[in-house]
Amino acid sequence: MKIISSIKEMTAHSEELRRKGRTLVFVPTMGFLHKGHLTLMEEGKKQADDLIVSIFVNPAQFGPNEDLDTYPRALERDLELCEKIGAAAVFTPDAGEMYPEGFQTYVELTRLPLHLCGLSRPVFFRGVATVVTKLFNIVRPHKAVFGQKDFQQLTLIRQMVRDLSLNIEIIGVPIVREADGLAMSSRNKYLNESERSDALLLHQSLLKAKEMVASGEKNPARILEQARQILNSCPGIKIDYVSICDIATLDNLGEGERIDRPVLMALAVMLGKTRLIDNMIL
Ligand code: PAJ
Repeated sequence: MKIISSIKEMTAHSEELRRKGRTLVFVPTMGFLHKGHLTLMEEGKKQADDLIVSIFVNPAQFGPNEDLDTYPRALERDLELCEKIGAAAVFTPDAGEMYPEGFQTYVELTRLPLHLCGLSRPVFFRGVATVVTKLFNIVRPHKAVFGQKDFQQLTLIRQMVRDLSLNIEIIGVPIVREADGLAMSSRNKYLNESERSDALLLHQSLLKAKEMVASGEKNPARILEQARQILNSCPGIKIDYVSICDIATLDNLGEGERIDRPVLMALAVMLGKTRLIDNMIL
């Protein structure tokens, strides 16, 4: 497995593999790998000859008061996991390599970021779209794999690939959860014992919503009310949003609109100092 930190070398390596007729699949990550990331990699390996993973904690997607400095890192362990899974290469640039002095070009979507996480994280999706575009250009994959854990991110990447004619196939992978239902996330590391158990309420409120829809509830307001009640039962949880929205546009279901098709229920909360997100298709 090659470990590469320079852009020039990464592109040269990919070009060489492409010249040999290999198909490349790419899994971008911010590291501190868990089973969610590994599932993306396993899926990737089924879909192409060579798997390339990137590990880069992208400063451009963190706001000024967010957790860039404390974001968990474990590069040695991550590299071992990538090796074990059979990655052909891992790209680990530093911030100076990706954003050299004078950097000033960003990729911005006009509509999808105006929903859900984009509202409380105004620079987040601009940072994601920019870094993923750069990574696509550097790694030159045929395919790339993203998780539905970050449903809005996946939607936005698909849109960006269409809009910019990027010629990369985007593969989505369902959310990987702990045995008790908590969606896996590098940020779960921040949770203390009591927060870890409170965090189960996220998945539980989604399950309750699904159950309500299954038993005939079509009014999104009632489902949202129930979910808020479940989340608010824990004093440590501060809701950022709980939304039921259109799967494609992410527009909230309007006043009086009924659930008459598969819709996305998504939520974000602060649990103590930790931001957690989860979602489910209803
Ligand atoms: P990161 O949070 O490290 O996640 C990397 C990829 O793993 C994303 O596609 C994310 O959706 C997926 N993932 C994380 N937890 C998951 C889970 N429990 N189940 C399924 N997939 C999961 O997302 C990012 O990094 C960054 O924004 C990035 C795309 C790398 C750009 O910087």
